[in-house]
Amino acid sequence: AGSSGERPGEGGVGFSKGGFILAAIGSSVGLGNMWKFPYITGAHGGAAFFLLFILCLVIVGLPILLAEMTIGRGGRGNASASLFNLTNKKHWKWFGLISIITAFLIMSYYSVVAGWTVHYMIQSFAGALSDSGTDYAAAFLGFAGGYMPVFWSAVIMTITGFVIARGVSSGIEKFNKILIPGFMIILLILMVRALTLPGAMEGVEFFLRPDFSKLSEESVLIALGHAFFSLSLGMGCMLTYGSYVQKSQSLGKAALAIGFGDLLYAFVAGLVIFPTVFAFGMEPASGVGLAFIALPAAFAQMPLGFLFGGLFFLLLAIAALTSAVSILEVPVAYAREQWNWSRKKTAIIMASLAFLLGVPSALSVEGTSGPLSSFYLFGKTIFDLFDFSTSYILMPIGGLIITLFTGYAWKRAGEEAGLTGGLYRAWMFLLRYVCPLLIILIFLHSIGLLDF
Ligand code: PFF
Repeated sequence: AGSSGERPGEGGVGFSKGGFILAAIGSSVGLGNMWKFPYITGAHGGAAFFLLFILCLVIVGLPILLAEMTIGRGGRGNASASLFNLTNKKHWKWFGLISIITAFLIMSYYSVVAGWTVHYMIQSFAGALSDSGTDYAAAFLGFAGGYMPVFWSAVIMTITGFVIARGVSSGIEKFNKILIPGFMIILLILMVRALTLPGAMEGVEFFLRPDFSKLSEESVLIALGHAFFSLSLGMGCMLTYGSYVQKSQSLGKAALAIGFGDLLYAFVAGLVIFPTVFAFGMEPASGVGLAFIALPAAFAQMPLGFLFGGLFFLLLAIAALTSAVSILEVPVAYAREQWNWSRKKTAIIMASLAFLLGVPSALSVEGTSGPLSSFYLFGKTIFDLFDFSTSYILMPIGGLIITLFTGYAWKRAGEEAGLTGGLYRAWMFLLRYVCPLLIILIFLHSIGLLDF
C-alpha cells in the first residue's frame, strides 16, 4: 500500500513522543466527555454508571486501544492497509475499510454538534445568553431546527480540513500542542467556579454517590458503546495515529496515559456540569439538551455568567476540534495512500464530503422544526440514526475486528507492543476471550436478538 513519506523511518518525522500523547488525548477528549457523558450518566444513575464506565474502559477499552496503536505502528499504513500489510491477506483490507467508513459517518454528525458549540460560545461571550427569563429549551430547538447549524458545521469542517492539510507534525501535532494546555486551564477555572457555587454539593453527590437501582441491561450497552466512542476506538483513529508513532515510544505507557487522561476529563467535566446544573435547580437527565439547554439557563443566572458560559462553550469547541481532526485523518490517510492523492487535495475532498453528508443530520434534530426532523428511519431521526448506528453498532464491530485480528490473526503483536510475560498473557486473554465475548453479547442484545 502506497508509501506515505510521512512516517518515521520512511522519510517523515511523524509525531514526537509528547506530541503523540497530546494528539491522542485531544482525540479521545471530545464532545463524548463534555456533551454525551454527562447526559447518559444523568440518565443511568450517576456514579453507578460512572463505575460501570470505568470497568468498560479498563477491561475492553485499554486492550483495544493498545491493539489499535500497535497495529498502526507495526503495519505502517492507514486503517485498511495496516491490516493487510501485517497478514498479506486481502480480506483484512476489507475489514479495515469498515472502520474508515465508520469514521466518515461519525465525522458528518460530529461536525454538526461541534458547530453548535461555536454558535453558543459566540452568543454567550456577546451577552446574548444572559437573560434568565429566556426559555432556553425553545431557544435551542429554534436554533437547531434552522439553517445556522449548517453554516457552523461548514466552519468546523473548514478548520479541520485546514489542520489536516498541513500534515501530521506541523498540522495535527502543532494544533493539539497549542489547544490542549489552554483547554486544561479553562477546565480548571470552570471546575473551581462550579464547585464553589452555593448548592454545588448536591450535584457532586449525584455524580459520586452510586445508585445501582438505576442500572439496567441497557446501561451496560451504553457504557460499553461510550467507552469505544470516548477512547476513539473501533474506527481506525488510534490505529492511524499509531502509524505515525516512533519505534522508540512505549505504546503500553501511551495507552495508560490516554486512558487515564480521558477518564480524568470525563470526571472533571462531571464536576463542572452537575454542580452547575444542580445549583440552579435544573434536571440532570435532560437528554442531549443538557449542555445546550440546562447549562445556558444556569449560566444566565450566574454572576459573570456570560464569561463562564462563554468559556464553557469555548472548552467544548476546543474538545470537539481536536477530536474532529483525528476523525478526518482516518479517511484522509486512506484516500491519500490508496489513490496517491496529495494531502491537501485529499483533505479538501474529504472535508467537503463529510460536510455534505452532515447536512441531513443538521436538519433532522428531534423535537425541532428542522425540515427533516419528522422523517424517521428505523424509528430514529437521521441525526440519531447516525449517532446510534456508529456508536452502538459500527464501532463495536470495528473493535471486534481489532480484537480478533490482534488475538488470532497477527502473531507478532506482543513484540511490536513491547509486552512480555504476564502482561502479554493478560492482554491476549482479554483480546481473545473477554473483549470479543462481551462485544458480541452486548451487540446481539442491542439489535434485539438476545434478551438478558
Ligand atoms: N473520542 C471523541 C469524543 O469523546 O468526543 C469522539 C471520537 C473521536 C470518536 C475520534 C471517534 C474518533 F475516532
